[in-house]
Amino acid sequence: MIEIKNLSKRFGQNVVLDHLNLTIQKGDVLGVIGSSGTGKSTLLRCMNYLEKPEEGSITVGDVTVDARHHSSRDCIRLRQKTAMVFQNFGLFHRKTALENVMEGLVIVRKLPKEEAAGIAREELAKVGLADRMDYYPSQLSGGQQQRVAIARALAMQPELLLFDEPTSALDPELVGEVLETIKKAVDEGNTMIIVSHEMEFIRRISNRIIMLDGGAVIEDGTPEQVFNHPTSNRAKEFFRRMMISQGAEYYI
Ligand SMILES: Nc1ncnc2c1ncn2[C@@H]1O[C@H](COP(=O)(O)OP(=O)(O)OP(=O)(O)O)[C@@H](O)[C@H]1O
Ligand SMILES: [Mg+2]
Repeated sequence: MIEIKNLSKRFGQNVVLDHLNLTIQKGDVLGVIGSSGTGKSTLLRCMNYLEKPEEGSITVGDVTVDARHHSSRDCIRLRQKTAMVFQNFGLFHRKTALENVMEGLVIVRKLPKEEAAGIAREELAKVGLADRMDYYPSQLSGGQQQRVAIARALAMQPELLLFDEPTSALDPELVGEVLETIKKAVDEGNTMIIVSHEMEFIRRISNRIIMLDGGAVIEDGTPEQVFNHPTSNRAKEFFRRMMISQGAEYYI
């Protein structure tokens, strides 16, 4: 189980997360939506302590990290239980696709190189890149780079996968292949939190949606509940604007 208790994060005077609480079950696919600047990325970054909250605790499986008293060892353990896929792929540019996927397996999981290479080949094949393993990021399309990043995350067998706008840096024609790869990871039963502006996609793959606003969760329910019957005025306004920019089919 994954539990966020009383999580608060501010930047200077700007309170981004305000005593936020959230429990996620194993196998859940949680879609996070909300206007720009409402703390979606900050929430994901706090989940693996890329960003340190001022208050609150985060539990992933058998590791709990409390902002007020935690050891660096606990932070490292928390990081090992999560894997994040970023908007801009975050690959090592001097390493091939295969080496990128191997990196964490060798450095963090301490696997022998041969074994790491075997797992990396399998994961890359699963995301459709069997013929691109020896390519460098600069020789790959954006969609291919993001699929390498997803293979790298999946290779670590994390208890929690975090996706932060995984398709928003891609040309429109490359979005589909990445969404398909994420869908596969969903079908394999991975627990994940995904932030995306792809409303139709997030609605289809998530079993639960939350909307952030004012540092808190203002909507929480099934996609049907949140998209079709939002309760708060903020959410209704969000969907109204979304409908104008993305087309009406997402909000019926
Ligand atoms: N490193 C930082 N230093 C100072 N302020 C920050 C930092 N990171 C984020 N913020 C602020 O925190 C708030 C939340 O930012 P965050 O990136 O989490 O929003 P978001 O919901 O992911 O937005 P978007 O949809 O545009 O990606 C914003 O007001 C932002 O300016
Ligand atoms: Mg963001």
